[in-house]
Amino acid sequence: MAVDFLGKDIVAGGPNQGSVGWRSPSNIAIIKYWGKYGNQLPQNPSLSFTLSQAYTETRVDYKRTDQNDISIDFLFEGKSNKNFENRIEAFLKKNIAYFPFITSLHLKIESSNSFPHSSGIASSASSMSALCLCLMTLEQKLTESTYSPSTLLKKASFLSRLASGSASRSVYPISAIWGQHHAVNSHNEYATPFAKMHSVFKTFHDDILIVSKEEKKVSSTAGHALMEGNPFAKARYAQANERFESLLEILESGDVEAFGKIAEDEALTLHALMMCSDPSYVLMEPNTLSIINEIRAFREDHKLPVYFTLDAGPNIHLLYPDSIQNEVDPFIKEVLLRYCDNQKVIKDHVGSGPQEISTFTLDKS
Ligand code: PMV
Repeated sequence: MAVDFLGKDIVAGGPNQGSVGWRSPSNIAIIKYWGKYGNQLPQNPSLSFTLSQAYTETRVDYKRTDQNDISIDFLFEGKSNKNFENRIEAFLKKNIAYFPFITSLHLKIESSNSFPHSSGIASSASSMSALCLCLMTLEQKLTESTYSPSTLLKKASFLSRLASGSASRSVYPISAIWGQHHAVNSHNEYATPFAKMHSVFKTFHDDILIVSKEEKKVSSTAGHALMEGNPFAKARYAQANERFESLLEILESGDVEAFGKIAEDEALTLHALMMCSDPSYVLMEPNTLSIINEIRAFREDHKLPVYFTLDAGPNIHLLYPDSIQNEVDPFIKEVLLRYCDNQKVIKDHVGSGPQEISTFTLDKS
């Protein structure tokens, strides 16, 4: 139990009911977290870019009750969703010591994504960080806890990590690191902002080319677990540590070419680890490989810094600096769109992090 993050009970005399809300973005890992131990602790450090256009909005309506137990209703995109509700309830139950005040409340939680459901975008990072930020705002409103802005984000990151490891990184603007490394003051229990980033990366694009919007055949949870028997696991964790350290320097210096090499190597390593798990599995599709080949050919022919990364799925994240957007746009339209499901691409870029909100632009209810 992480004593620093334990929560307080509700105080008498506060508001009887009300609502809180957060918009929180997804993130894309450049150094991948793949393999965990204990209670959601990472086997290696990871570093991500925070996105902007792929986000979740979550509103929590609360009402005091005297039932002294967890009581929630969950609506996803305006509709009751028992599967998600059970998962959230299990998370709340398991971690109740960090927000005991919710046992004095009934919570109606409504969540919507800016990206279409089942678009193949991992939504746990945005949705879990949005929910945990709402819990933090509730804690501040209804208990005697007062947090500085940085401690609030630290606890929000800690809670998000317990829900979904990669969600720990979504609470910060621009870029975040999660997992201990000797070169930097980072932690396994929560992420911290990576502040030393060169300006070229602060406006980087990440256009998400949707190759398939099918649900993944193997979940991330199962994928992490398979790392335990993976014969390359030890070498992988050592490699991730080395690449992480190199990337810190690269991001500070603004070396886009060196960045692109690490981003692509990490993406292919992640998928190689899946292919040599037991049982083995492949999450890339034929069109994923076609796009990778097109990107590499375009880069070679045009001498332009366009790179890719992949999440645990078949979709390609196209990474490039803002200065070459006018050259990359026609490449996407004329060459890459034909490989995408329904020609779908989500144009995204490095973003400014979560925001507390009272107006919900995605409200479906
Ligand atoms: O947060 P999880 O358990 O869904 O794992 C995410 C793992 C990757 O997205 C593949 C890599 C990462 O660091 O985000």
